[in-house]
Amino acid sequence: MEDAAAVPIKKVPRDERILFMKAAFQQEFGNPPKFIVKVPGRVNLIGEHIDYCGFPVLPMALEQDALIAAGTIREKEINIKNVNYQKYPEYKVALKKFEEIKIEPDVDGKPFWYNYVLCGVKGALEYLDNKFEQGLQILVDGNIPPASGLSSSSALVSASCLTFLHAQKAKITKTDIASLCAVSERYIGTQGGGMDQAIAFLGEKNSAQYITFLPLQVTPVTLPDDAVFVVAHSLAEANKAANNEYNSRVVECRLAAKIIATREEIETGSKMITLSQLQECRDSSLEDMIELVHKLLPEEIYSKSEISSILNISEDALGDLYLTSNTKQLPDFKLKQRALHVYEEALRVENFRKLCSGSNRINDNIISSLGNLMFESHESLKKQYECSHDNLDLLVDLSKKFGVNARLTGAGWGGCIVAICREEEVNAFMDYLTDEFYVKHCNIDRENVPSYLFATAPNDGAVIYQL
Ligand code: GLA
Repeated sequence: MEDAAAVPIKKVPRDERILFMKAAFQQEFGNPPKFIVKVPGRVNLIGEHIDYCGFPVLPMALEQDALIAAGTIREKEINIKNVNYQKYPEYKVALKKFEEIKIEPDVDGKPFWYNYVLCGVKGALEYLDNKFEQGLQILVDGNIPPASGLSSSSALVSASCLTFLHAQKAKITKTDIASLCAVSERYIGTQGGGMDQAIAFLGEKNSAQYITFLPLQVTPVTLPDDAVFVVAHSLAEANKAANNEYNSRVVECRLAAKIIATREEIETGSKMITLSQLQECRDSSLEDMIELVHKLLPEEIYSKSEISSILNISEDALGDLYLTSNTKQLPDFKLKQRALHVYEEALRVENFRKLCSGSNRINDNIISSLGNLMFESHESLKKQYECSHDNLDLLVDLSKKFGVNARLTGAGWGGCIVAICREEEVNAFMDYLTDEFYVKHCNIDRENVPSYLFATAPNDGAVIYQL
């Protein structure tokens, strides 16, 4: 089975960027690298903000990636450099136990770039039980636009973890390293699900992946032959680790599940329960869960004290058991809206997948039907999940005007949209967005647009090039 396999080790391809990395590494460290790791970014087609609730998602790996060229050294330290050294300065740290690796944000609360590398290394050390032989010299490069919702951070965390493990000759399957990286990325402070790391390792050329969690499994989904997916950057940067918006959605889902469980007299003690576990416990359909949310979470807003009294615990205990350090001070929570989004989005994922695998795949309407699901997803993310941005909404509206459906992709609050269109309309659609959004609305020079707007097809997951 593909996902029980380890990350493939290949010969170095004649690729310009890889050759450049080899030369740049030699120049930086005075010796050649031993291997180069490549981990792709991703675009999520549908299933947003539901992975951390335990529901399946449907992303594909991108061509854009994070690259790490690595050399091993005797000293137990890691020397981290970036090709773009002015923006991303060098960092060096002694390696001891994973417990001793500190991951602290800078003064604005934004993570330092190298913290993503440290997350990966910390996870690898934990996996190795702190037993390792080799220190590392690493040089990082990447062409996934940062803060774009295309998973540049997870690609870097995953590439770093893979680099460290490969340097120690550790054996690990793709699914295990994907799960390991999902957990280690949380050291940055966000309580992410596992989608980005899963697709980073388990992506496949020519198909998107239907990803289920606990246990992590992927099933290829063949997209309609004449469908093209276009990614467009909103030019609003979205760094989910720089504020508490992402974590507040995670905890709102936790609290929604906990309250419904309590009201339904499902025994969970002080343990957390996800919205998908709740569905399993009740053995209900997603449609029934949607009705249940309306019935059991009728309010628009729940205050912290209200939630404590429903759960019959003190506000301090509520904070300790279910909130994160950056959400403990929140006075109130939107539970109905978030839970409705989650169950409805989970239903859209199932419908999207069914449409792709149905016997009427060649049917003319399939692209419109997939597009409608994507558009509904965006509407829900905008209104119920409140994680959109004016620029994202404008891009989605402009697409609609042109006759194409689109949605925000990734965590939101900025970053990119993904649109689905027919092959024959892709050029006209991209010209339209170039004029209407990038040139007219954002004053961008036409020649710079291709780095923000591109058509994409599913790609392979991570690979190691052995030199
Ligand atoms: C980020 C997280 C993912 C997922 C998405 C939203 O990319 O890393 O786990 O939650 O946001 O779907």
